[in-house]
Amino acid sequence: MIESIFKSEEDIPKEYIPTKNIIQKEYLINGEMRIWDGPLNEVMSPIFVKEKEGLKQRVLGSTPLLTEKESMQALDAAVAAYDMGHGYWPTLSVGSRIEYIERFLSKMKEKRSKVVNLLMWEIGKNLKDSEKEFDRTCDYIEDTVKGLKELDRRSSGFEVEQGVIGQIRRVPLGVALCMGPYNYPLNETFSTLIPALIMGNTVIFKPAKFGVLLIKPLLQAFQESFPAGVINIIYGRGRATVGALMASGKLDVFAFIGTNKGANDLKKLHPKPHRLRSILGLDAKNPAIVLPDADMDVAIDECIAGSLSFNGQRCTALKILFLHSSIVEEFNQRFIERVNALKAGLPWEDGVSLTPLPEPGKVDYLNDLVEDAGEHGAAIINEGGGASNETFFFPAVLYPVNEKMKVYTEEQFGPIVPIVPYDDEQEAIDYVVNSNFGQQLSIFSNDSKTIGRLVDVFSNQVGRININAQCQRGPDTFPFNGRKDSAEGTLSVSDALRVFSIRILVAAKYNDSSKQIINDIVSNGESAFLTRDYIF
Ligand code: G3H
Repeated sequence: MIESIFKSEEDIPKEYIPTKNIIQKEYLINGEMRIWDGPLNEVMSPIFVKEKEGLKQRVLGSTPLLTEKESMQALDAAVAAYDMGHGYWPTLSVGSRIEYIERFLSKMKEKRSKVVNLLMWEIGKNLKDSEKEFDRTCDYIEDTVKGLKELDRRSSGFEVEQGVIGQIRRVPLGVALCMGPYNYPLNETFSTLIPALIMGNTVIFKPAKFGVLLIKPLLQAFQESFPAGVINIIYGRGRATVGALMASGKLDVFAFIGTNKGANDLKKLHPKPHRLRSILGLDAKNPAIVLPDADMDVAIDECIAGSLSFNGQRCTALKILFLHSSIVEEFNQRFIERVNALKAGLPWEDGVSLTPLPEPGKVDYLNDLVEDAGEHGAAIINEGGGASNETFFFPAVLYPVNEKMKVYTEEQFGPIVPIVPYDDEQEAIDYVVNSNFGQQLSIFSNDSKTIGRLVDVFSNQVGRININAQCQRGPDTFPFNGRKDSAEGTLSVSDALRVFSIRILVAAKYNDSSKQIINDIVSNGESAFLTRDYIF
């Protein structure tokens, strides 16, 4: 019952009650934990608490609203630590940088329960998924270390081609700005931050718009683990802080996971576009295409998880379902039974999958999408769908959806499942081809010929085609990217090491004198770059 979703404090297990009013004034610049005495930004939880006077939205605390001045200080620190590539960090051996990262990881692991609890309170992610986000991030860091060792081993040899001998190694790019999204404020931010650091770049990190306080328990770990200026952590409004960083022209890398509009606005502020490498994970409107011969059980299971895990707030979520008209009725009937069986509640409650939404105004936006769809002929087909209570919105399954509706093209990023009936698969193909986005899609069918044909049709349209499975980012060792407005660059454990670095070649004519010089350099240990050493 969504009317009783929010509880009084006595009904919340003690271990999940967050510390009262966490006033964060610290921010990290140049290895110093500085204290901010200016205005603060209030951090509201999506969770309301029942009080005598009624429901009250929980205030979790506040974070510093830094200004352009502090963000430029962070930039100066990162620029100085990089020191045009001559700084301690960019010239450090791979093995030593790995030691720093490992030190950070072990300190980070000590903060698991604090971070997990804040994930639940700040963004409403359920306990299981919050734990998964934390653990997956630790695994990602471990895999990154492994990936770098492997890369280092492969780069330790010399190659001879057409009379030229050379050694190729990866070196850092410079100063990186890393910003992550609110739906994976830990995992996706660290999936760029850690590779950027381990490859020798210096970093300015600005936490996501929600899921900010959960970085606080890690601030000290960052400070204690890295040399001054290597990692700088700032807070505040994007326009005031990040805009100035970009406009300075001193950033070499822009790693941003968020909206297409946000990335566009920021990227164009950089005065030297060719000197800026961008790694972007942006909007998506991933469709599922369910063919007449699909295994209905599989399609329903995957479409439920694909469209409604974390209330549909995943960039990889299935955001529109195309159902062949011969099976749409059966699918709808069984799908809505499953939707209505999903448990709504607070994140720590057993078996809960539907939880309150963190974005202010989100419920109004979702209502607007539903109303607009209604005006163009669709209805909510699940009983109780679209009902809301403050920040909570029960999933609305909309049918039949058509191209006149906003929800047909807009990324709802929330618990609305639009279902489009089709007779000719060309309708679904046209949707994908004409979409502004091109992240992933799912095909549900049991016929190898059909699947084979559609794989070929879609292989130049999206970054990943899922067969009889929902869309997703993982496993993190697989490439994660997108076409059109969905992404720039590819991320995965090994790709991230590449995108935050550049291959540098040291070459010489393959003759006796060069061989002698190179041999001497290597055997006398006269260069950190030209060496055959590698780490195990
Ligand atoms: O928000 C977008 C994430 O990259 C999705 O990751 O598929 O593991 O939920 P996921």
